[in-house]
Amino acid sequence: MRITVRSGRMGRVRGGVQVFAALEGEQRPARLLPDSTARDQELKRLVAGSGFRGAPNEVLFLPRSGGGQWVIVVGLGKEKELSLERVRQFGGTAARAVRARRFKALAVPVLRERGLGTPAAVAQALVEGVLLGLYQYTKLKRVPKSEQGKRIDAVTLVVERAGDVAAAKRAVEKARVIAEAVALARDLINGPSNIVTPTYLAHQARALAKQFRLKSRIIPFAQLKRLGFGGIVGVAQGSNHPAQFIVLEYTPSRAKATFALCGKGITFDSGGISIKPSAKMEQMKYDMSGAAAVLGTLKAAATLKLPYRVVGIIAATENLPSGTAQKPGDVLKTLSGKTVEVLNTDAEGRLVLADCLHYAKRYKPDCCVDLATLTGACVVALGGEAIGLMTKDEKLAARISQAGKTTYERVWRLPLWGEYGPALKSDIADLRNVTNTGEAGTITAGKFLEEFAEGLPWAHLDIAGTAWIEKDKPYIPKGAVGIGVRLLVKLMENWK
Ligand code: BES
Ligand code: ZN
Ligand code: ZN
Repeated sequence: MRITVRSGRMGRVRGGVQVFAALEGEQRPARLLPDSTARDQELKRLVAGSGFRGAPNEVLFLPRSGGGQWVIVVGLGKEKELSLERVRQFGGTAARAVRARRFKALAVPVLRERGLGTPAAVAQALVEGVLLGLYQYTKLKRVPKSEQGKRIDAVTLVVERAGDVAAAKRAVEKARVIAEAVALARDLINGPSNIVTPTYLAHQARALAKQFRLKSRIIPFAQLKRLGFGGIVGVAQGSNHPAQFIVLEYTPSRAKATFALCGKGITFDSGGISIKPSAKMEQMKYDMSGAAAVLGTLKAAATLKLPYRVVGIIAATENLPSGTAQKPGDVLKTLSGKTVEVLNTDAEGRLVLADCLHYAKRYKPDCCVDLATLTGACVVALGGEAIGLMTKDEKLAARISQAGKTTYERVWRLPLWGEYGPALKSDIADLRNVTNTGEAGTITAGKFLEEFAEGLPWAHLDIAGTAWIEKDKPYIPKGAVGIGVRLLVKLMENWK
């Protein structure tokens, strides 16, 4: 897709649509933006007569008299609530509406309202919204006749001042990189588990390594057994697809800090012998969303040439029942040497992450973040709007929260108080993998991980509720969200 930046007023768009924004106000009609459109009497009259209010993501299509130019007005919501997130949504809503009507191009204003930040920041949010909103997973289906030709070829951003063009262009490129990294994560997550196997993830990692000259180490199942990766092996032993432990390393010259990013890569979670109910079990292909976020983040970091060393550590395996699967009551020995009594084979994420976190220690990272669709309890507690954040590191918590606010991949902190720990004591091993009450399921999972993160400046992100959505959002089509990529990139960008 071609994205260009121009300065001045919104002009005609060949084969396309002019996009205007509107603020929702007390009185009608809604106020049109950019402010220069106020002089457009025809437009004002049409909007006034339409009942359009300017509520967030409300859409109004208008044919202009003479010449066939089309206009679309998209609601931004109330002026007081304006934010970059509203701009992101505005971009997604506009682009999708224009595509649905079979237009090929659109021109959108880079808004300059107070409180939105620089034109570059607005341009970045806008283009993120457009590109993320237009994402589709179409690899596995023929596009029906009625959908064919619905494709946007060109987007024009219109900034008010010529002096802002250069910065806006850089912002566009950055947004493109980020959107492509998120799309990679989404593709991996949307891909079914018979295609996106542990081996497939390893191939993807190798491809990234080749493309960006990253260092990679991939340890297949047979070696994991020999090397003592007991957590991963315990989960993987029921599957016919060999597990893969994936390490990808991006090292710029003169790196200012080292980030270790651990991702849960369960390509399908049936629960194992503690099998899940069949309703919605198909969704458990998204149990590798943490791994997908790590791969997407590495792609973005390498493309943007961030001045930090980034080490991605992924445990990829299925969790299936079979004659060789681990059984409730089995005891395994993790890479750290700690033993775990596996009382529920469906609490497998913490077992594979235990090995990832221990492995991360060898890099002596300045920051270690793990991402995992870890607990159903997190879905219950926070739903789809917040990632569960657990860490004892106040400064890291603040940094992650801040990145969450700006990217709108928001996090909500849960405590790791000592009192939650004893429930994980086992009679015959160092730990048990589930508590017997099931209380505070998200926190106790975090406490379990903490046992393997000793000495690491570590934070745990439970993305079980946020990684997958069942209803379209303005810039997230239903299915894989690709959550975590934008959050982690922002965390690193703000590090210093
Ligand atoms: N992958 C699941 C968690 C999950 C549930 C993710 C729903 C997304 C949506 C995880 O492996 C799991 O099954 N956890 C168990 C833990 C329990 C046995 C302590 C759970 O949440 O039920
Ligand atoms: Zn599970
Ligand atoms: Zn799982």
